[in-house]
Amino acid sequence: MAEDAAGGPRRRLVTPDGGSGDTAPRDGTRLRRIRRSYDAWARAYDWFARATASVGGVRAACVDALDLAPGDAVVEFGCGPGVNLPALRGAVGRRGRVVGVDVSPRMLDRAAGLVERRGWENVSLVEADAERPPVAAADGVLATFVTSLFADPYRVVSRWCDLADAVVVAAFVPEGNRAANAALRTFVALNGRLFDARTDDPLGELAARTAAARRALDDRAAVRERERRVFGTIAVEAGRDR
Ligand SMILES: C[S@@+](CC[C@H](N)C(=O)[O-])C[C@H]1O[C@@H](n2cnc3c(N)ncnc32)[C@H](O)[C@@H]1O
Repeated sequence: MAEDAAGGPRRRLVTPDGGSGDTAPRDGTRLRRIRRSYDAWARAYDWFARATASVGGVRAACVDALDLAPGDAVVEFGCGPGVNLPALRGAVGRRGRVVGVDVSPRMLDRAAGLVERRGWENVSLVEADAERPPVAAADGVLATFVTSLFADPYRVVSRWCDLADAVVVAAFVPEGNRAANAALRTFVALNGRLFDARTDDPLGELAARTAAARRALDDRAAVRERERRVFGTIAVEAGRDR
């Protein structure tokens, strides 16, 4: 995690001046596929995500786990239509800063509508790849239901740990009860191309990606918190410098 954070003042948001420093090859085809899918589903996803926003208290638990203070800067990667933005804005207040990052312009349009309706002046939205963060430092990073879309979640979450004092990830865990597993299996099978699953065991791949994100936090964070919600199917994993 960020070296100068222990006991020091909260970090400000810093944008990189020369790229993200990430030298991993860029998989443009995969990113374009993700953008196309989420663009097409942005309206329906927005409705679904808002209708289910309080289920299991997952989103509230994620924002709590970031342990943000008024004036902090927080980045949400894969912010989608912005369902977490109200709680993030609430946590950092009017003097803080919230940045939502997503690759889907239609998702960002939905989020922008919310920002405009609420009249928030300190919430900005950036079209960018979360695997190559457009930010160099922040107090907190949040990512809900995004890391399973990365080919190498360990690398991406490690990168986030380098830039923020607190990183919180929520992801599906296909180890909950049988009914939940069946629902997840159907979801992943229907969206195999979206997850870019290359095996005939997409559920296993989903489990492996969630585990990889968890391992990155285990390896990088000084303080770890983890909990399972919604019959054990959703893991909330938090890593902090202190
Ligand atoms: C399942 S939605 C989750 C949205 C939101 N985090 C939520 O919890 O409702 C996944 C989102 O991640 C975005 N996404 C996927 N891969 C991304 C990437 N590499 N960089 C930025 N955004 C990405 C998609 O466009 C989509 O909006």
